[in-house]
Amino acid sequence: MAVITETKLPNLYYRGKVRDTYNLGNELLIIATDRLSAFDVVLPTGIPEKGVVLNHLSAFWFEKTAHIVPNHLIALASDAPKASKDKNAAFISSLPRDLALRGMLVKKAKRVDIECVVRGYLSGSAWAEYSKEGTINGTPMPKGLRESDKLPEVMFTPTTKAETGHDQNMSMAEVRKMVGASLTRELEEKSLAIYRFADSYARTRGIIIADTKMEFGILDGKVILIDELLTPDSSRFWDAEKYTPGRPQPSYDKQFVRDWLVKSGWNKEPPAPALPTDVVIGTAERYKEAYRRLTGMAL
Ligand SMILES: Nc1ncnc2c1ncn2[C@@H]1O[C@H](COP(=O)(O)OP(=O)(O)OP(=O)(O)O)[C@@H](O)[C@H]1O
Ligand SMILES: [Mg+2]
Repeated sequence: MAVITETKLPNLYYRGKVRDTYNLGNELLIIATDRLSAFDVVLPTGIPEKGVVLNHLSAFWFEKTAHIVPNHLIALASDAPKASKDKNAAFISSLPRDLALRGMLVKKAKRVDIECVVRGYLSGSAWAEYSKEGTINGTPMPKGLRESDKLPEVMFTPTTKAETGHDQNMSMAEVRKMVGASLTRELEEKSLAIYRFADSYARTRGIIIADTKMEFGILDGKVILIDELLTPDSSRFWDAEKYTPGRPQPSYDKQFVRDWLVKSGWNKEPPAPALPTDVVIGTAERYKEAYRRLTGMAL
């Protein structure tokens, strides 16, 4: 099994913690590597085929939700290339198979610099805010909610896209000031619609989508979904059968690594320790299992 933690193609556009993005003119090639980040630190050990899983899971959701919101997906890099320019098609076709399996060809859009977070359950930073202030993204909430409880209503809780450091919550007034009232309404409606559709679908497959984050861009004057969609890196997936509010829920795939890291005594400052083989294999299995459960297909 190949492990790809580094890509070195020409025209790097952006290197994130997990994905390497390449500029192809009006298109982008996004490669999901096998890098894994935990506690916001990229680990020195890759997880075999994690990038293949994330790439195909994003594509699965883009196809499944295209009737709700159009998106940037042109084609998986491993499919017959549908690039607009012959030059890009030739480039994609020439990729080694290990990269093609992790790559997605997308339309480049003008990014809306807001992380569109949607929450159906009380977890993460929302739980931290609620336990201190009784609010979620500044909105007063009923008393007595427990960690991981289902929220009375699905909530849109946008944040900034911070260049460095942590994303900051944005009020709806701040979003309106940044992008105008009409686009604000559109972002909220589309984000909620995607979440509702995906969560009810996932429930039929035994998974709760506690929360997720999506990004939008503008292409030819229209709003489209960009970036990744409903992956374990952008969402909290919980096992519906083991769901027990009143405590944190084990995350479907990363928990195994997080538990090992905590037990190792690592102080959560870089560099992180290398992972032992059984943790690597166990984690790879869990990513594949999440894919199998959500899509009903083996990879
Ligand atoms: N179709 C698109 N058009 C324009 N920009 C896009 C498109 N799809 C994704 N992007 C942008 O490309 C970048 C992908 O980077 P990536 O998500 O890997 O890293 P990041 O978000 O900066 O860091 P992190 O590793 O924390 O996620 C993001 O800035 C995203 O907004
Ligand atoms: Mg990102």
